[in-house]
Amino acid sequence: MYVLGIETSCDETAAAIVTRDDNGAPQILSDIVLSQVDDHSAFGGVVPEIAARAHLSALDRVIEAAVNEAGMTRSDIDAVAATGGPGLIGGLIVGLMTAKGLAASLGKPFLAVNHLEAHALTARLTDRIEFPYLLLLVSGGHTQIVAVEGLGQYRRWATTIDDALGEAFDKTAKLLSLGFPGGPAVERTAMQGDPARFDFPRPLKGQNTLNFSFSGLKTAIRQEAERLAPLKEQDVADLCAAFQAAVRDVLVDRASRAMDRFEEIWPDMERPTLVVAGGVAANQVLRGSLAAACGNKNWRFVAPPLKLCGDNAVMVAWAGLERFERGEVSPMSFAPRSRWPLDEDVAAVIGSGKRGVKA
Ligand code: KG4
Ligand code: ZN
Repeated sequence: MYVLGIETSCDETAAAIVTRDDNGAPQILSDIVLSQVDDHSAFGGVVPEIAARAHLSALDRVIEAAVNEAGMTRSDIDAVAATGGPGLIGGLIVGLMTAKGLAASLGKPFLAVNHLEAHALTARLTDRIEFPYLLLLVSGGHTQIVAVEGLGQYRRWATTIDDALGEAFDKTAKLLSLGFPGGPAVERTAMQGDPARFDFPRPLKGQNTLNFSFSGLKTAIRQEAERLAPLKEQDVADLCAAFQAAVRDVLVDRASRAMDRFEEIWPDMERPTLVVAGGVAANQVLRGSLAAACGNKNWRFVAPPLKLCGDNAVMVAWAGLERFERGEVSPMSFAPRSRWPLDEDVAAVIGSGKRGVKA
């Protein structure tokens, strides 16, 4: 069974084909990602209207490239999966309409995939891990701790009460004129810096919550940068290193607490797994510290290869394949969802902007 995946929820136009080999092992037959970063960099962030137009002009060619790279023709495809949300609505419309049109013309099923589920299931493709596992999802739009109990069974244990972690990296980079996207630039610059020069806050660390908060950290960096202005190269490197160290401490603290909670709920698992996913999971310092925390607790640590951390269509195709194998398809009437929580039942947190939410 060959599943074509399409991803257009943010600023990557991507298409990929996945399948299983004769032994059931997942196989990536093609993986095409066209980044729009040059279209957006002048604006210091993703401009939704530009993103939608860029997806529209590129998607057909990207799909063609994915089919060619797999050595197939379109008629070999058994199902077409596309990100149905959450994300920027213009891009989602482009991806969904294309997927539906292609599925209809081939007479094959269409599946709308939740982008967060796609990130969450990537580790099952790369490392064949079984349910349940603990997921730390850190991307440009989301920062969540999720208990992944089964396909479609997700319990969100924590989220951010303000900025997402990738957003915090991007804003820090912007403040320090390091360009966009900020994560890789901050990581690179931090390598030359001294993390001990500044003692930035570790928001919510040690508190009895699994939630995240990054806006206080962002303010602390801005104030320090203003105090030091004009910034020398070494100042910028030290600020990046200290920011990353604060983030690392917070992630390790929260992940460790979540691991304790996981062990209480699933006490009989010999060696549970922590999976880190999303664009920020590409960060080597954070990966290293989370791996060490897992080692201390006799947990298995799984982080997808760098190329599958950021947005890609392999993960969309894979989530589609898992759903399709279970006999699911989506109706052609499926409408794009700019908001599509993994855990529909979870209570909103204070700071989420939802009315009536109390501390
Ligand atoms: O998952 P992703 O590609 O898109 C979303 O679904 O949001 O994540 C993008 C985010 C951006 O904020 C980017 O700055 C961040 O991931 N990122 C990183 C690194 N590479 C990408 N953050 C920290 N360190 C990195 N090496
Ligand atoms: Zn993503």
